[in-house]
Amino acid sequence: MRGLTALVAGVALLAVGCAGAATMEQKSLYDRLGGRPAITAVVDDFIGNVASDPRINQRFAGANIPRLKTMLVDQICEASGGPCKYAGATMEAAHRGMRITDADFGALVEDLVKSLDKFKVPAQEKGELLGALGGMKPQIVGK
Ligand code: HEM
Repeated sequence: MRGLTALVAGVALLAVGCAGAATMEQKSLYDRLGGRPAITAVVDDFIGNVASDPRINQRFAGANIPRLKTMLVDQICEASGGPCKYAGATMEAAHRGMRITDADFGALVEDLVKSLDKFKVPAQEKGELLGALGGMKPQIVGK
């Protein structure tokens, strides 16, 4: 009888575990971030941080900021599994000739983290997003 109870408990635990895993798999990062409105709010705030960051703001002196915001939202939306198509330049082409350094890249990531924290994006989602953007670093730095 004790064996049967243990078996039932085991099967129940397994079922709960599977249900949990299934829910996590179903929701894309895009959905967990809160979709396009939440991504737009973070990008707006982030560009504000960049604009007031003396370490890198000169880099953006001649930039088309409205276009940059739209491109970043599209890019994050697509990279996180959302229903968008990024139609901008490749990361290599967009940053070619800028000689962006590790320090520049780090400063920009810090400005983004400030915004993610301000909007209380949880650690899991923050890590996934930063991981996706970090993967673009070789195309951006030192070109
Ligand atoms: C993960 C990091 C980064 C991502 C995802 C990213 C993304 C982008 C995107 C999507 C564009 C627009 C491309 C287009 O208009 O077709 C862009 C342009 C640009 N990026 Fe980055 N970038 C990153 C890092 C950096 C860094 C570290 C700097 C300099 C500190 C930088 C400076 C610029 C500038 C100056 C432009 C051109 C804006 C313009 O001419 O209008 N980016 N970037």
